[in-house]
Amino acid sequence: MVSFHHSKSFCCFFFSIITVIFSLFVNPTEALYHGYVPSPWKLAHATFYGDESASATMGGACGYGNLITNGYGTNTAALSSTIFSDGYACGQCYQLRCVQSPWCLTGYTTVTATNHCPPNWSQDSNNGGWCNPPRTHFDMTKPAFMKIARWKAGIVPVMYRMVPCIKKGGIRFSFQGNGYWLLVYVMNVAGAGDLHQMWVKGTKTGWISMSHNWGASYQAFATLHGQALSFRLTSHTTKQTITAYNVAPTNWNLGLTYQGNVNFH
Ligand SMILES: *[C@@H]1O[C@H](CO)[C@@H](O)[C@H](O)[C@H]1NC(C)=O
Repeated sequence: MVSFHHSKSFCCFFFSIITVIFSLFVNPTEALYHGYVPSPWKLAHATFYGDESASATMGGACGYGNLITNGYGTNTAALSSTIFSDGYACGQCYQLRCVQSPWCLTGYTTVTATNHCPPNWSQDSNNGGWCNPPRTHFDMTKPAFMKIARWKAGIVPVMYRMVPCIKKGGIRFSFQGNGYWLLVYVMNVAGAGDLHQMWVKGTKTGWISMSHNWGASYQAFATLHGQALSFRLTSHTTKQTITAYNVAPTNWNLGLTYQGNVNFH
């Protein structure tokens, strides 16, 4: 009897192990990944640029163009090189609060990284050269800054953390380039909001690795006209990979924006 009980419990233990291992292999991403969670709080500084209309926020080093029509709103920021990471930070969402200054307000602000704040080595890093490495700095729009501090402060210490980006619908792909060169600006990215690697697939091609151009744009030197296009993307922060099938129809055109039906989470 003892040996019977022993072998029975061994058998059940064995099968539960098999079940766990099997579920990992069926969909490893789904089994291990439960969505992007905020990073720990860290110390940085923040300033603002432009006026209350935030009209100076058009364009920017991420290549999002018109931030209002493209869904980024007026709560955006230019990041110092230390955190801009050659554009891999584009699209990331940051929550900030002012600390250790009499000019602080009690609220939080959430901004999207849409621009680079370049160093200016003709200014002292502690007196105007706020974006000089190794400083971690957020140069925010005035409306975003005024949620956490009085604008008269000029510069304030902040605590910041990365938070999930909340987006409606799938990732958007804005096409530029020419007949032999497809340049794609990637927008409306949820989850960590950022990108690390991207591939394109035409109906007559395999997966073609795209190279990072600048900001949030990726390029393929390939002739893809007349083929429906799918994209595969890997997040910079989470390393999660998703595939958006048949994003652009066979008759796609440069200058147009196409929306996939998947997004990071
Ligand atoms: C860098 O700082 C100097 C000195 O304040 C200023 O004259 C110059 O316009 C700045 N350069 C840029 C690109 O902002």
